[in-house]
Amino acid sequence: MIVAIDGPAGAGKGTLARRLAAAFNLAYLDTGALYRAVGVAVLDAGGNPADPAAAESAARNLGLDLLDSPRLRTEAAGDAASQVAAVPGVRAALLEFQRQFAHHPPSPCVGAVLDGRDIGTVVCPEARLKLFVTASAEERARRRTLELRGKGIAAIQDRVLADMLARDERDRDRKVAPLAPANDAVVLDTTDMDADMVFDRAAALVRNAATPA
Ligand code: DC
Repeated sequence: MIVAIDGPAGAGKGTLARRLAAAFNLAYLDTGALYRAVGVAVLDAGGNPADPAAAESAARNLGLDLLDSPRLRTEAAGDAASQVAAVPGVRAALLEFQRQFAHHPPSPCVGAVLDGRDIGTVVCPEARLKLFVTASAEERARRRTLELRGKGIAAIQDRVLADMLARDERDRDRKVAPLAPANDAVVLDTTDMDADMVFDRAAALVRNAATPA
């Protein structure tokens, strides 16, 4: 059972993916963390995340120890991630790991849920269920600002919105694996939904997808 969740920044993919994983005994992979780790590795080495050679080399030598670091959650890491994510060699270097995780989730999980930008279109086009989770840019910026402030990080909503729009544009307009819903994805616009409503709707879709036809 593979569930693919894609969508723009701040749409609530991670919250939903974590809850579905717990409810349906699925392993969860936050694929954005892989790109964030590559971005942070390039910055740590004093490189430019937009430099294809530096980005690809960081992706090929990525240590998984960085994946749980709180440093990945900063806006700087998100911005660097979006830049390295446009480099085809970076995407190629991370692809096999994601597919392996989806098809061989750690025991005792009965499947996997992956969230990102290209899970339904490129990483797991064979996923049993594909969700495209989105919300208006203003609502996504409002949620992200509250989340940052909750972590004690001073955040100005207009600034968060501007950064988010720039990142969305880069993710949507890049040549390889751009952010887009798969043809057979269910689109969930969560602008007027709270996290419980989104979970209930998605859980019903998972139950339906898990039932043999
Ligand atoms: O989901 P996130 O904000 O942690 O992702 C950070 C960046 O990584 C995002 O701007 C685009 C990139 N990304 C991607 O290109 N493909 C994925 N499957 C996941 C993330």
